[in-house]
Amino acid sequence: MRPINLPFQDLTAQMRELRSAIQAAVMRTLDSGCYINGPEVERFESRVARALGAQFAVGVSSGTDALLVALMALDVRPGDLVITSVYSFIAAAEVIVRLSAHPVFIDIERDTYNIDPASLARFLQEDPIRRSLVKAIVPVHLFGRCAPMDQIVRVADRYEIPVVEDVAQAFGAVGQSSIPGIAKCAGTMGRLGCFSFYPTKNLGAMGDGGMVVTDDADLARRCRQLRNHGAEAKGQHTIVGGNFRLDEIQAAILNVKLDHVEAWNVERRRIATAYDAGLRIEGLMLPRGAPTQADAEPQGRAIANHVYNQYVVAVERDRDGLAGHLAKEGIGTAIYYPTPLNRQPCLINASGITRQATNTDPAGTDATSAHFPQAEWAAAHTLGLPIYPGLTEAQQQRVIASVRRYFGRGPATSA
Ligand SMILES: Cc1ncc(COP(=O)(O)O)c(C=O)c1O
Repeated sequence: MRPINLPFQDLTAQMRELRSAIQAAVMRTLDSGCYINGPEVERFESRVARALGAQFAVGVSSGTDALLVALMALDVRPGDLVITSVYSFIAAAEVIVRLSAHPVFIDIERDTYNIDPASLARFLQEDPIRRSLVKAIVPVHLFGRCAPMDQIVRVADRYEIPVVEDVAQAFGAVGQSSIPGIAKCAGTMGRLGCFSFYPTKNLGAMGDGGMVVTDDADLARRCRQLRNHGAEAKGQHTIVGGNFRLDEIQAAILNVKLDHVEAWNVERRRIATAYDAGLRIEGLMLPRGAPTQADAEPQGRAIANHVYNQYVVAVERDRDGLAGHLAKEGIGTAIYYPTPLNRQPCLINASGITRQATNTDPAGTDATSAHFPQAEWAAAHTLGLPIYPGLTEAQQQRVIASVRRYFGRGPATSA
C-alpha cells in the first residue's frame, strides 16, 4: 500500500501562506508581556462580532467550553432536558451531561445530516410536561451547512425555549433566519452561538480556542463572568464559573487568520463544486450544498452559504471499500461519525439518559436501541473526502479520478 501522500487534512498550507504575519503577531504578543485577556482577545472579539453581525462576542478556551459557558449562562441545571442532534461530535452532549442535565437526541435529515425540524417539532408538541423540562435546543451546523434555523427558531419561540447554535464547523456560513427573506450568519440566529477555533475548523487557531456570540447583553455579561471564575470584579465571585479564557497568543494568530477566512471559504466552495461536477456517480450521494432557488424565499434571493468544513459523501454500498481503495491510492479520508451519540457508551452510562425523542419511541424511554434510522444510515454510509484551503486542482482531480476508478468509471469528462 502507498503511504498517504494526499492527506485528509493539511494545515501547513495556511502556515506557509501566513508565516511572516503569524510570526510577527506571536512575537508581538510575547514581547508585550500580556498573555491573558489582553488587547488581542479584545480586538478579536470585536472584529468577530462585527463580521458576523452580532452585538457581543466572548472569547473562550475551546468550542466545547463555549457550549458549556452558553448552557451555564442559560442556567441549565441537574434534571433539565437539553435537545440536540444525535449525529454530531460529542461536545454538545458531553457538556449537557457534565451539567447533570439530560441530552434529548433528535434524528437528522437524510440529505443534510442536520437535525430534523419536523421530529423536533413533534417532540415538543407531544408532551407538555416533558416540554416544560426542556431548557435549551442545541442544533449543530454540521459539516459547514446551516441547520434549518428558520424552522428551528420558530418552533423554539413558540415554547419560549432558547436556541444555542453549535457553529464549530460553520464559521462564515449563512442561513435563512426565522424572519422570512432575511439571511444571517450562523451563530446569530439563535440566542447564543458557540464557535470552535480548533485548528481544522474554517477559522482555526494553532491550538485551542472558542467563542460565544449573542445579542443579549445580560447573557454576554454572564458568559464573560463565567469564563473567568464567575468573577464580577476582582475577588468578587458571585456565580460559580471556571477558567474558560481564550489566550492572547491564539487570539493574535486568529486576528491574522480572520482576514483570510472569507477567501478560504470561497476556496472550500470551489473545491466542493469541482467534486460535485466530477463525482456524479450512481451509488454515491453528494452533500447537499446551499439551498437551491426552489428552497429560497419567493424573492429567489440566494439565502444560504455552505462553507464545507467537510465534504461528506454517502456510499450506498460498501463505504469501507471506497475508503480502503482511496487509502491504497495514497488518499486520506475520515468517517464522521461512525457511532451516533445515543450509542456512545459514556453517554448511556454516565448520564442516565431516559428520554429520547424518536419516531419509533415517542415515549422516549429507550436510550440504546437504534431509534434513529437516519443517523444510523449516515454512520454506516458516509465518508469525508479531503477539502481544505491549499488543496490544489491536481490533488482534487486525483481524488475525483480515484473515486471514479473505484466505481469503474473513466475520467470525469467522458462521464
Ligand atoms: C460540531 C462540534 N461541536 C463542538 C466541537 C468542540 O470544539 P473544540 O474541539 O474546540 O472543543 C467540535 C470540534 O470538533 C465540533 O465539531
